[in-house]
Amino acid sequence: MNNDYREKLLQSKKYRDVCPDTLVRLWAECEVKYKKPKDVDRAVREALHGITGAFLTPAEASECAWAMQSWHAGGRTDDQLENILNKHASTRERLPLADMDALYARIFDIAGRPGHILDLACGINPIYLAVRGLRVTGVDISGAAVSAVNAFGQSCGMPADAVCADLLCPGAIPAGRYDLALLFKALPLLERQRSGAARKLLRQIPAKVVAASFPTRTLGGRNVGMAAHYAAWMEAHLPENRAVLASFETENELFYLLEERS
Ligand SMILES: C[S@@+](CC[C@H](N)C(=O)[O-])C[C@H]1O[C@@H](n2cnc3c(N)ncnc32)[C@H](O)[C@@H]1O
Repeated sequence: MNNDYREKLLQSKKYRDVCPDTLVRLWAECEVKYKKPKDVDRAVREALHGITGAFLTPAEASECAWAMQSWHAGGRTDDQLENILNKHASTRERLPLADMDALYARIFDIAGRPGHILDLACGINPIYLAVRGLRVTGVDISGAAVSAVNAFGQSCGMPADAVCADLLCPGAIPAGRYDLALLFKALPLLERQRSGAARKLLRQIPAKVVAASFPTRTLGGRNVGMAAHYAAWMEAHLPENRAVLASFETENELFYLLEERS
């Protein structure tokens, strides 16, 4: 990396907490495409915005910290939980909480209630799971999301922890065996970062069932045939060691439950 630009990027408010492996990876990829360090820097920042920065801004991360304090100090109500989950673009789209409860009830009806969940590219979703009494370990490149989950786990005594790691780099999946792994709205994002990444990751996940989801509406809320597109996408990216156990749609998301094949 060019030192001046690298230092500025590493110190920028928006990206200083991003997984260092991701910054190194993106910089190397962009350096192949652009000659001038300034252009490399712009391309890395654009890529970072698309894969992580757009989902939880620094302002939202600090609002999230305040909302967690209010939840901890103020009676631990569902309204306060909703206020926390509202800070991340992805969990926000699944609210209200009644809808999230119904979604997980549906998943557990099919896959069984899990003992330990692995939440990959988790955002702040582990916070919801922990409040509902589920043990969860998350992984994300967003240091802000990972810090929020760990702060919630530690200071509020909740069964949640997370690691800041890049699922496209070796060793990112925490060792262990899980009943259920979540890959919510993450597979196409990973595939865009590296062709072949989705199938490779699905093949490696040490969990009996993987629940993967896909957005079915544009950011403006329009339904433009995304469900059919992603249904075909999922079939095309299924590795040989997973089979479709079930699939269903909610108002704005398509879900696949994938079981291990022996
Ligand atoms: C669309 S959000 C989904 C968040 C969460 N799964 C949910 O649905 O609530 C995508 C998440 O993937 C994370 N992410 C993107 N690329 C990643 C990578 N290579 N490794 C790990 N996490 C990644 C982002 O930081 C972001 O939190």
